[in-house]
Amino acid sequence: MSCIVLDTKGGSKSTIFVGQGLESLDGLCPSKPVIITDNRVRELYGSRFPKSQMVLTIGQGEAAKTLETVQGLYGRLMELGGDRSTFILGIGGGIVCDVAGFVASTFLRGVNFGFAATTLLAQTDASVGGKNGVNFAGYKNMVGTFNQPLFVLCDTGLLATLPKKELANGFAEIIKHGCIADEAYFEFLEANANKANNLDQEAINALVQGSVKIKAGVVSRDELEKGERTKLNFGHTIGHALEKVAGISHGQAVAAGMVLAAKLSAARTGFAQEGVARIENLVRAMGLAPVIDADRQKVIDALFKDKKLAGKAVRFVLLKKIGQSTVEKIPLDELADFYLSASL
Ligand SMILES: NC(=O)c1ccc[n+]([C@@H]2O[C@H](COP(=O)([O-])OP(=O)(O)OC[C@H]3O[C@@H](n4cnc5c(N)ncnc54)[C@H](O)[C@@H]3O)[C@@H](O)[C@H]2O)c1
Ligand SMILES: [Zn+2]
Repeated sequence: MSCIVLDTKGGSKSTIFVGQGLESLDGLCPSKPVIITDNRVRELYGSRFPKSQMVLTIGQGEAAKTLETVQGLYGRLMELGGDRSTFILGIGGGIVCDVAGFVASTFLRGVNFGFAATTLLAQTDASVGGKNGVNFAGYKNMVGTFNQPLFVLCDTGLLATLPKKELANGFAEIIKHGCIADEAYFEFLEANANKANNLDQEAINALVQGSVKIKAGVVSRDELEKGERTKLNFGHTIGHALEKVAGISHGQAVAAGMVLAAKLSAARTGFAQEGVARIENLVRAMGLAPVIDADRQKVIDALFKDKKLAGKAVRFVLLKKIGQSTVEKIPLDELADFYLSASL
């Protein structure tokens, strides 16, 4: 069991508990919470939720991460007589955390909230860092706020029911954290890949703790993504385009995106070929493919169309070595040339 404190320059504070059961939630909530969850998580774990007559359920997947869902939740909160003392508790994966955090940040101009993260991706990434929001007009995460939850609880025992594909999404972000910030953490996963895949409690707790520490460290120094936080996008620039074009999972797309970014690093920063091979091997060991066979021109088109990339250059995350990253402005055309001619 461990507890990591995320303290931002802006003065907000969030405490992340790793390895404690859902049963601790009663003690963590300052008052009886209004719970926001999804139907799957409620079905699996509703009987272990903290005492509350107020459980609001949303649907599953990106289709539920909308302003319509948010409006529905505002309506329910009003019916329940929600006021400024209302405490919102999101129990679920990244979708539930993003939606619950946004509702809490905007209902009555903001009420307090906390999360119980139930997927590996939410425990290692989505629930930590205070970004929340919804998709809009076909674009992911277009509307949202920066606002830290009072606490995040990561009950790693819940991962036993998580489908393999969802686990792999979390492993991709874990590899990312090792690549950008911590070689020892990367080595730990190399040495414990089997244990992690089999959800060995000790290995998984160590990995969730390690990822939370890395992400909380980055966010505490750059909450609003003016600089260092960009590093958390490692593998995501081309990854997002691959995800759209090939219709693959986020983790799979990020895995292939990281391998491409490692290859580009070898060309631009002198990142060692041996490092590229280690990333490819670790990606494979965690059940992901290092290369995705997609129509490359379509991937480039998707990259150019991404609204967030409007302009002529992108802030691209490169590795100097495993555990050390740097952000460089790279013209989109150069990125396209590299990808179109890369040997994969
Ligand atoms: N805010 C951030 O900083 C941040 C960072 C990364 C990702 N995200 C967001 O996170 C979202 C993805 O989150 P996700 O990968 O957790 O997906 P998700 O929330 O859709 O969960 C995946 C599926 O697993 C189910 N599930 C959840 N917990 C389970 C459990 N313990 N056992 C069995 N099934 C369970 C869910 O019902 C869902 O069907 C994306 O929308 C992404 O944009 C946000
Ligand atoms: Zn990601």
